[in-house]
Amino acid sequence: MTASSDQKARPLRSRPGTKGLAGTAKVPGDKSISHRALIFGALSVGETRVSGLLEGEDVLRTAAAMRAMGAEVERLGDGNWTVWGVGVGGLSEPADVLDMGNAGTGARLVMGLVASHDFAATFTGDASLRRRPMGRVVEPLQRIGARFVGRSGGRLPLTVVGTAHPLPIEYELPVASAQVKTAVLLAGLNAPGITTVIEPEPTRDHTEHMLRHFGATVDVQPTKSGGRIIRLTGQPEFKPATIAVPGDPSSAAFPMVAALIVPGSEITLQNVGLNPLRTGVFTTLQEMGADFSFTNKRSEGGEPVADITIRHSALKGITVPPERAPSMIDEYPILFVAAACAEGDTIVRGARELRVKESDRLAVMARGLKACGVELEEFEDGILIRGQGRPPQGIVPGGASIETELDHRIAMSFLVLGLAAKDGVGIDDARVMETSFPGFADLMRRLGGDLQITE
Ligand code: S3P
Repeated sequence: MTASSDQKARPLRSRPGTKGLAGTAKVPGDKSISHRALIFGALSVGETRVSGLLEGEDVLRTAAAMRAMGAEVERLGDGNWTVWGVGVGGLSEPADVLDMGNAGTGARLVMGLVASHDFAATFTGDASLRRRPMGRVVEPLQRIGARFVGRSGGRLPLTVVGTAHPLPIEYELPVASAQVKTAVLLAGLNAPGITTVIEPEPTRDHTEHMLRHFGATVDVQPTKSGGRIIRLTGQPEFKPATIAVPGDPSSAAFPMVAALIVPGSEITLQNVGLNPLRTGVFTTLQEMGADFSFTNKRSEGGEPVADITIRHSALKGITVPPERAPSMIDEYPILFVAAACAEGDTIVRGARELRVKESDRLAVMARGLKACGVELEEFEDGILIRGQGRPPQGIVPGGASIETELDHRIAMSFLVLGLAAKDGVGIDDARVMETSFPGFADLMRRLGGDLQITE
């Protein structure tokens, strides 16, 4: 259910319980890999089977878009899906507007696909997605030959007029963005010759893994300045594949931080993806003094995974290296919560990209944390948070009710903070969490968290 389709807002409040969090849980499938599994399945000829798919609202929108362009996408039950694809270059014109809901990833990736097909498609989304900049994909996709008609700044609603004669381009990303990299590579799939993307800093490489998994030729070379050059040979024939989606490390970060800040906690999260380009938050939390251990390390569908056991810890403030931003970009909101409960100052810089996520996450987190009694200083590209220390001596006062601005990660961050804040914390609408973490409140309750609907 989306925030836009379900009529009534569902306010929710969390507060400290009498005991620590305890138990074992499994977080939902990885959002990035789930979007890609459906897209790549739709581009191969034959049946792709996916298990562990995230059945969140964002991914369901991508499933609907793939269906609208000719693929057969069906749920077999509980994370198990089947996709009958149409082959690279075989998508057909959708009969209606593609409503991507809240999903920036879905919107940008599917735009890349349409760009190198000989038809047009119009994209829209919810109020959050319609605020987000699309110029970053419009610019390279125009070079490939697509045309665009949209609002200022390339904002949605936006029509992509794909080209019948896509050009293979060489494109250097102006910002570290896996979405832009992927949009260019997806467009390049249907272009003859080699499409090259140069990224200034490495970003999540699920696309590169999956391209190879489905049979494409991809060459990745490091640059002297620490980036990567990715070369994709166009017009491959995709063989259908089997994909096991690991648990999302970005989702795991919420119960993890909850266990770190609620006294007496010890929890285990199973099957969490540990792709090294996604694990910056784990490194950062460990530097802050977090006590967690990885067990049952293994590989699932080409991605490293493990179970993680997390214990309540005395966290200290640190300076987060700016170059770590791409590997923990979605985890800053929950990191700010950990920082608020740590001893000493935490300083984050080089995180300007947070301003163009589902909300302006620097501004929304700063406002919400201040309302909860946390001292901080907001910068254009980061934040300084004065940690309150550990309960019972140091404790975040809380007591605020937070406007989540259609941002799932803002909602979950403040619900986690409420579990360790003196007077708890409320959010205006729990429905937004459906985009990436369906069942978040239930999972936290099973671990012993006190989360209650407040009408
Ligand atoms: C994603 C890339 C990141 C991330 C988003 C998912 C992806 O966005 O924030 O949640 O799946 O490629 P950017 O590419 O804008 O950094």
